[in-house]
Amino acid sequence: MSATADSDAFVFFGATGDLARKKIFPALYGLVHRGGLNIPIIVLARAGRTLETLKGMAKESIQAAGDYEPACFEKMASLMRYADGDYADPNTYTNLKKALGLAKRPIHYLAIPPSMFGTVVQGLAKSGCSDDARVIVEKPFGRDLQSAQSLDATLHEVFPERSIFRIDHYLGKEAVQNLLYFRFANTFLEPIWNRNHVKDVQITMAENFGVQGRGGFYEEVGAIRDVVQNHLLQVIALLAMDCPVSQDAASLQAEKLRLFRAMRPIDPKEVVRGQFRGYRDEKGVAKDSQVETFAALRLHIDTWRWADVPFYIRAGKCLPISATEVVVNLKKPPLGIFDSGSDMPTNYFRLRLSPEVVISTGALVKKNGEEMRGEPVELIARHSTQREKSPYERLLGDAIRGDVQLFTQDDSVEAAWRVVDPVLKDPLPVVEYACGTWGPATAAQIVSGGEVWHDPQVETTQPC
Ligand code: BG6
Repeated sequence: MSATADSDAFVFFGATGDLARKKIFPALYGLVHRGGLNIPIIVLARAGRTLETLKGMAKESIQAAGDYEPACFEKMASLMRYADGDYADPNTYTNLKKALGLAKRPIHYLAIPPSMFGTVVQGLAKSGCSDDARVIVEKPFGRDLQSAQSLDATLHEVFPERSIFRIDHYLGKEAVQNLLYFRFANTFLEPIWNRNHVKDVQITMAENFGVQGRGGFYEEVGAIRDVVQNHLLQVIALLAMDCPVSQDAASLQAEKLRLFRAMRPIDPKEVVRGQFRGYRDEKGVAKDSQVETFAALRLHIDTWRWADVPFYIRAGKCLPISATEVVVNLKKPPLGIFDSGSDMPTNYFRLRLSPEVVISTGALVKKNGEEMRGEPVELIARHSTQREKSPYERLLGDAIRGDVQLFTQDDSVEAAWRVVDPVLKDPLPVVEYACGTWGPATAAQIVSGGEVWHDPQVETTQPC
């Protein structure tokens, strides 16, 4: 298939799962509503379901997402087809082939456990459903380097790399794309965006809720696999990489890959893993579970630009607030002639990725009065609360059009697993923390050099 021809049917494996309900049906609806999607949507489910029950499920999930217009839903429903069957049964793929009808370039979306990938892609290949097809796979892509390599080998038996779309929904977020834009559309950052001026970089992804009924899934994953290996390392790659030669997918991915390869595998001694009190009472969670719901860690990037600049990462469930924020702390001025004896903050950039999108700079200005005393202020470059297209709507639309830019590729996913693998293989025990706190007190030891964690706050700056 030409790398850019649009797919002409969307095949949905795993349509009865949680992700389908929360994100995928609303995203498909958005594509029909705003993007004019007009290709068959073939929904696969195990025996006992009908096209009508699946339409009902889709309708409920779109209504719950709060963006429902009856006429538009009818349009989407008219595109839906149903193919019944067990993924391990060859007849499922024969049914699918029939349901595909005249479609020549289907895209298969696998929202299914990775353990099923092999069976499904082989079923697609044997039935001819993989010819000229694309495949979209969900995260987590593997559970360590070795399993990711073996998943890649499984997929590559049937699909070339250019036809594989690995989802990391963070890459579909406006705020995350803005990191790339902000860094490389401006000239004022580049001279200071390095070890000469940056003291450290912190990134916190805080969530004020627990595992929300996903205890069984979480037991298999934990915070490091769930959000660090993928979302947060991707954010760091955009923050730390060199400028690509152009904005095309190959140039971007090449620079990101160089950066991933320069990340030093994490030392388990530079990690604190926490578990919120009450996690072990969740359905599907072992009573003696050692799975982390919180992680704080120090990452090193061995390049000329970043040598000796620590990147601190913190992610957790049941923290005081839901917000994801990056803070790039700059070094002190070489000579402090004002405010002696006080501990004024140094300059910083604050890049808030959610729930609001904020870009601001922390600076010091003189306080009114006779003394040369200062006070901290924030210069707001951007503050937007505008509702954005859901990342899934953006990413599924891109995949249907064959645009690989916002998807992860085999070598960078493997490089990211290489970074976290030591912690997964040889973790220290989890430390319990109370819900509503910033994780175990020992997480403070991860930040060094007189620094403390920057805790994201409720946003008080005004939209501009
Ligand atoms: C998912 C994780 O990938 O990202 C969840 O599995 C997490 O545990 C979610 O809550 C956060 O993403 P967002 O876009 O909802 O902030």
